[in-house]
Amino acid sequence: MDRIFSGIQPTGTPHLGNYLGAIQNWVNLQEECSSVLYSIMDMHSLTVPKEPAVLRQNILDTTAAILACGVDPKKCLLFQQSLVSEHAQLAWILGCLTNVPRLLRLPQWKTKRASQNNEGTAGLLTYPVLQAADILLYKSTHVPVGEDQVVHLELAQDIAQHFNKKYGEFFPVPKTILSANKIKSLRDPTVKMSKSDPQKLATVSIADSPDEIALKFRKAVTDFTSEVSYDPAARPGVSNLVSIHAAVTGLSIKEVLHQALGLDTAQYKMVVAESVIQKFAPIRSEIKKLQEDKSHLMKVLEDGAEKAKELAAPIYQEIRRLVGF
Ligand code: ADP
Ligand code: NA
Repeated sequence: MDRIFSGIQPTGTPHLGNYLGAIQNWVNLQEECSSVLYSIMDMHSLTVPKEPAVLRQNILDTTAAILACGVDPKKCLLFQQSLVSEHAQLAWILGCLTNVPRLLRLPQWKTKRASQNNEGTAGLLTYPVLQAADILLYKSTHVPVGEDQVVHLELAQDIAQHFNKKYGEFFPVPKTILSANKIKSLRDPTVKMSKSDPQKLATVSIADSPDEIALKFRKAVTDFTSEVSYDPAARPGVSNLVSIHAAVTGLSIKEVLHQALGLDTAQYKMVVAESVIQKFAPIRSEIKKLQEDKSHLMKVLEDGAEKAKELAAPIYQEIRRLVGF
C-alpha cells in the first residue's frame, strides 16, 4: 500500500514558493492517495534558535495557512511532529546507523551553520536523521519534496537500506516525488524565493494584501527586453513571472505566453500580480478566520497526532524488537 509523508517547518505564513512548490501538491495528493500524513515539523524548527512564544505562534500560523490552502484533515493526517514521541525515539536508533562524515558532507550543514554564525549544534548536524525517522516511522513509500530536499531523501533511503541489511527487510525504500515548480526571488531571480531572504520585496507571503502583492510584482527585477518570453537561462526574471503565472492559474507555459502577446514586461507584471491576488484572496480571508480560533487549530494538530501515533506505535514496537530492546 502506498503511504505519502511530507512535512513543513512552522515558520509562520508560507510564501508563494512554499505554496507552489509544496502545499499545492499536498492538496492534490490527499485526493489521490488513501494514506497521507502531513506534519508540522516543530522539532526541526528548533535547529534555528527562536523565542518560545514565536515558535508557538508560528506553529499555529503555519497550520492556519495550510488548512486555508485546502489541506483537509478528513483526507489526510495533519499533525504536530513533537506530539508523536516515536519520531525522536526512532531518530536515536537511526542515528546509531549513520556515519558522521556522511552528515558532515550534506550541504545544509555548511550553509545553515554559516547563516547562524556559530560552530553548529548537534541538532543542526543530525536533523536529516530526524527527517529519515519522520518518514520511516510510518513505513512511508512516497515523499513529495522540493529540489533542496533531495539529498536528505537520499540519506533516508540509505538509512532504510542499511537498517534492512542489518536487521532484515523492514522499511520500504521511500521514493521521491519531486515538485516541478521552482519559484525564484522577485529581486534576484537567480536564487530561490525564501522566507529568510533579507531583501525587501523579494518574497510574497500568501497572506500579503493586494497592495503589497502589486507593489512586489511592480518592483520585480526583469531585463532590458520589453516583450514577454520564456527562457529561464537567458531571462530568469521574466521567466520567473511566467512560471508563477502558469502555476497560479493552472495553465501551461504556452498558454500564459499566448495571454501575454502584445504586452510589455511592465504590463505583464500587473497581469501576474492580479492572478496572484485573485488566487490568494479567499485563502487570505480564510487564514484570518482560522487564526482567530487557536483552540480549534490546536485540536486539529492533536487529533491528527493521536491518529499518527496509532500508526507509528506498532511499527516502532517492531523496530524495538528488531534492534534488541
Ligand atoms: P524556505 O526556503 O523559505 O526556508 P522551507 O525550506 O521551509 O522554505 O520549505 C518548505 C517547502 O517549500 C519545501 O518543500 C521546499 O522545497 C518548498 N520551497 C521552498 N522555497 C521554494 C521555492 N522558492 N520554490 C519552490 N518550492 C519551494
Ligand atoms: Na486521502
